[in-house]
Amino acid sequence: MVTRLFRSFLLLCLLLVCRPGMSQQPGINYDEAAVPAYSLPDPLLTPAGKPVRSVTGWEREQRPHLLRQFAEHVYGKTPDRKLNVRYEVRSVDANALNGTAVRKQVAVFWTDYPQLPPLEILLYTPKNTGGSRPPVFVGLNYFGNQCVSTDPGILLSTRWMMNAGDGVVVDHRATEASRGFQARRWPLDLILSKGYAVATAYYGDLEPDHPEGWKTGIRSVLDPPVEGAPDRWKAIGVWAWGMSRMLDYLETDPSVDVGRAIAVGHSRQGKAALWAGAQDPRFDIVLSNDSGEGGAALSRRIFGETIEKLNTSFPHWFCDRYRSYNNRPEALPVDQHELLALMAPRPLYVASAREDQWADPKGEFTSARKTDPVYALYGKKGIGTDQMPGLHQPTGETVRYHIREGKHDILRYDWEQYIEFADRHLRTNR
Ligand code: GCU
Repeated sequence: MVTRLFRSFLLLCLLLVCRPGMSQQPGINYDEAAVPAYSLPDPLLTPAGKPVRSVTGWEREQRPHLLRQFAEHVYGKTPDRKLNVRYEVRSVDANALNGTAVRKQVAVFWTDYPQLPPLEILLYTPKNTGGSRPPVFVGLNYFGNQCVSTDPGILLSTRWMMNAGDGVVVDHRATEASRGFQARRWPLDLILSKGYAVATAYYGDLEPDHPEGWKTGIRSVLDPPVEGAPDRWKAIGVWAWGMSRMLDYLETDPSVDVGRAIAVGHSRQGKAALWAGAQDPRFDIVLSNDSGEGGAALSRRIFGETIEKLNTSFPHWFCDRYRSYNNRPEALPVDQHELLALMAPRPLYVASAREDQWADPKGEFTSARKTDPVYALYGKKGIGTDQMPGLHQPTGETVRYHIREGKHDILRYDWEQYIEFADRHLRTNR
């Protein structure tokens, strides 16, 4: 019975990730004219109804308040307790990718819990930096580090993962055929040639992505689920936490400039990247790619995926209390523009894809736009217009947005915009 349920869950996941016939899902609205009127909470209005007018007021009171609200109602609370770690360099190749990069693989062992698998970090640093430390993109991948490139030196993940077609992942384990399986999502040639490093790790090292996954992940030892704790963290919280642990490692690695770290994530990892960026100010720039519901998209705007759909399909992602908003997003004390506003004054980029209506591109744009008053407190210009731009017309300054042609994915075009944005806005350039 349990196995049957589990199988149906996996099938559902696969269907959702592949998104066939989304428009046919009953109860899902794809008609702009049918979006009910909604009103958003004002990020600059305190719970006592007092307007926030200064950076001090924002940073001392309102920002911490909103951060707490997201922990209590949406993502769950990230535990304070630190895990002891040991870093083990597994391999270094000083001439990777045709001599353009150094490839380092580092395992993060959770020393007090030898039963936990290590977090395997793959780090590429460019060799064209003239000796200076490169800024670094930090993001989790979906099918093990070997999925990001055909580089034969990358260790093959041995962890549980979602099955993927054509013998790529069989019986939930990666095969040799998975090498470079998602290389299109990680255009290393482009990233490295522009002088950026990339650090990635498999999200399933932190928690395998299924309802029972916590039992073999970080949550098995750190704030595991308990009855009657509706704000306990879940998988999105763990993945976000993992991005910060990657930063901890990078702080010890002199080959990158961790002061210029850029959080990047696509889809469910976009949700995690935003939550990581909100909690961890060490991320200098935050990038959300097609993160949709529970990510950049507004929950109160009923279009595409809903909170209910999200919680039903992925009961292990968000805190239990989030479920109580399934049919009443208007009752949530926050909406997602306030999550985005937590990045201020750091540069933030939100991207959508035209065929990804499930993620509600307009809801993502509007959410980004609604951060403008918070960025304005810092004298920064955000999106600056209510007019959603056309395809391939990035818009905005410190907060930027684009919608591109094509499907739910993170593609070279997206990376080109992110790199240009980072070139302009990294700490040292702004
Ligand atoms: C599903 C889910 C989305 C999520 C996406 C993904 O489609 O409904 O919320 O962003 O999977 O991670 O690819």
